[in-house]
Amino acid sequence: MAVSAQAFQAGVRHQQRLGHREFICEANDGLWVAIERALDNGFGLVFVVGQDGALIGELPLSRMRVALRDGLHLSHTTAGELAMPWEDGRSDLPIAPVIDPHGRVIAIDKRISSSLLPVAEPDLSRSELRNLLDAFLSTWISSTGDYILEFESLFSARVGMTHGVATSNGTVSLHLALAALGIGPGDEVIVPDLTFAASANAVIHVGARPVLVDVDPVTWCVSVEAIERVISPHTRAIMPVHLFGRPAPMTEICNLAQQQGLFVLEDCAEAHGAKYDGLPIGSFSDVASFSFFANKIITTGEGGMCVTRGPELALRMKMLRDHGMRPERRYWHEEAGFNFRMTNLQASIGCAQLQRMDEFLEMRKRVDASYRAALADLPGVVFPQPLSSRHEPVTWFSCALVSPEVRPLLIKACREANIDLRPFVNALSTMPAYRRFSRKCPASERLAACGINFPTSRKVDENVVGRIAEVFTQVMHMPAAMASSEAFLRQNGM
Ligand SMILES: Cc1ncc(COP(=O)(O)O)c(C=O)c1O
Repeated sequence: MAVSAQAFQAGVRHQQRLGHREFICEANDGLWVAIERALDNGFGLVFVVGQDGALIGELPLSRMRVALRDGLHLSHTTAGELAMPWEDGRSDLPIAPVIDPHGRVIAIDKRISSSLLPVAEPDLSRSELRNLLDAFLSTWISSTGDYILEFESLFSARVGMTHGVATSNGTVSLHLALAALGIGPGDEVIVPDLTFAASANAVIHVGARPVLVDVDPVTWCVSVEAIERVISPHTRAIMPVHLFGRPAPMTEICNLAQQQGLFVLEDCAEAHGAKYDGLPIGSFSDVASFSFFANKIITTGEGGMCVTRGPELALRMKMLRDHGMRPERRYWHEEAGFNFRMTNLQASIGCAQLQRMDEFLEMRKRVDASYRAALADLPGVVFPQPLSSRHEPVTWFSCALVSPEVRPLLIKACREANIDLRPFVNALSTMPAYRRFSRKCPASERLAACGINFPTSRKVDENVVGRIAEVFTQVMHMPAAMASSEAFLRQNGM
């Protein structure tokens, strides 16, 4: 296969950096080897070579899945049998082999692919697959099993709490916590106006009233002052949400809650690993809730967890999670509970993800730093302000603010370049479902109108960031965009 001298040089230059071994299988490697390698390299694809290192073809996970479904045997099928010829010049893949003049693969080039780059992608490696297979083969596929106990114990310890109660998702974990705290009709729970709808929905589903408060324009979370203004005789709990990995001021919120005799239920769905005053978020409150949806920092597919330091509260949550049944007395229901259980299959994935959590946090930090480096000088793109050293945020999605008029232009231009750029969630007060609870929340509305999320995954490298920077530069230099960005910056005192 012919390659230009330039491509060969480029390949040699990249060889070390890209570690092409992760992308290569030998023709006589079994299907399992190819599956694990395609998962571990994060691209869902391997290149198959002969013993002399010469390229035989490509083998994507999609083809391996079909082969398995069609009945091919894991141990009787080799990568060589399944490989498809590599067509030079394909543009739909984010990686391509660099081939030397003897036809040997000497490096892998990462490049911009013509298929859509989603805003989030789960990172599932061989560890998750092996755990999942183990759980499956154990036949403990429902909500009893060793992985549940292990995940609850390891995750709660990581957060600095003593008890974990795994649930089916991060919405029902909020619901479960509220129910276990005895919050219901006639009660009020203070919830930020800028959050994913699940935070308020859980309050509504226990029959209580969400009291929506504006967020702080710097932290993007609720402030103590905003909370103090809405406390009423009906208030039972405060639900701070650590939006986009930015920690709410938990020490102050917990002090206020203690003075006022209120519960604190932290919604940590978007901030695994963030800290405030040196302590992990999730460790401050009576109960904290996490989500493990596929776009979260660690995932179990669907899944959630309540963590607490209170042994009685943990027992009560476990009972309510399981139809209100007393654990030691089968089919004896103390209360009409729920089925909010997580399966052992989900927990098996969670255990593997938890071991990789620091790796994910590092990757997200690197991606965020690349966006900032590439776009920060572009007038009209404002990255979140640094917070005081008491806040140790994490990156869930990398975010920036742009003028509301420019945002749709950027989203459209990125979509045309096959890049998924997302707007922030809407301010709750502005939507029909929450109109009866709505109040004026200018900071929340402004963030909702201006916020964008960038793709934040392992696939985002300097090529992707460079491409996004090009698209942004083109859009931001359009006359209409320039005028609106100038006004946006003036309004923001820049
Ligand atoms: C702040 C917040 N709370 C709760 C949830 C609900 O989690 P789940 O999707 O696991 O139900 C989410 C999920 O996106 C979230 O972002």
